[in-house]
Amino acid sequence: MNDRLLIPNSWYLQSDLNFSELFPYYVRSSSTLHWTPLHIARYAAEFLDTGGNCRILDIGSGVGKFCLTGASYQSDAEWYGIEQRPYLVKHARNALNVLGYDNVTFLEGNFTTLNLKQFDHFYFFNSFFENIEGTDKIDNTIEYSEALYEYYVQYLHKVLGTMPGGTRIATFHSLQEEIPGSYKLVESLEGGDLKFWIKK
Ligand SMILES: C[S@@+](CC[C@H](N)C(=O)[O-])C[C@H]1O[C@@H](n2cnc3c(N)ncnc32)[C@H](O)[C@@H]1O
Repeated sequence: MNDRLLIPNSWYLQSDLNFSELFPYYVRSSSTLHWTPLHIARYAAEFLDTGGNCRILDIGSGVGKFCLTGASYQSDAEWYGIEQRPYLVKHARNALNVLGYDNVTFLEGNFTTLNLKQFDHFYFFNSFFENIEGTDKIDNTIEYSEALYEYYVQYLHKVLGTMPGGTRIATFHSLQEEIPGSYKLVESLEGGDLKFWIKK
């Protein structure tokens, strides 16, 4: 029998270590630097879930930790992740399969190909930072460049600026360059690493 059938879903959400058991070792090794810690994901999910069937997008969703944490609250929110690395999307979908939530969707591709207007609120864990020279990389499967960093930051800045008033974004370890002046900082936690913004 598959061991995972004996483990209740709630066990995986009890600690970062337990959560990492959803993934093979080579994906786990990125966890401390590149995947959101569970307690951060919980704070951010609570802020972004404004009730009803609101649609929340994780821009650069990795192995899906933020969306899966949000879905564990069993609210009516719909959690989406877009991720450019196909193998990470595959692992996120496998984890979703184990946890069995029906309000999570993992999309494969570059966030610039997605119409962000389909979503109400956003989570952003400094996804473009890998493009900066000298930073830790998840792997060597993609090209990095500072020009790409600038392009993504400016693209996101522009789109966020066109979102309706009340749009929320939670940023983790962000340099804030993607946040337009039309967003008000409403809370800063974890020594300023986690910030909550609402469009005026
Ligand atoms: C720091 S990790 C965060 C993962 C996840 N949001 C979390 O908090 O656990 C950033 C992720 O963004 C992805 N990413 C970076 N640029 C992207 C882009 N232009 N489109 C889609 N995904 C992107 C990377 O592949 C990486 O998996």
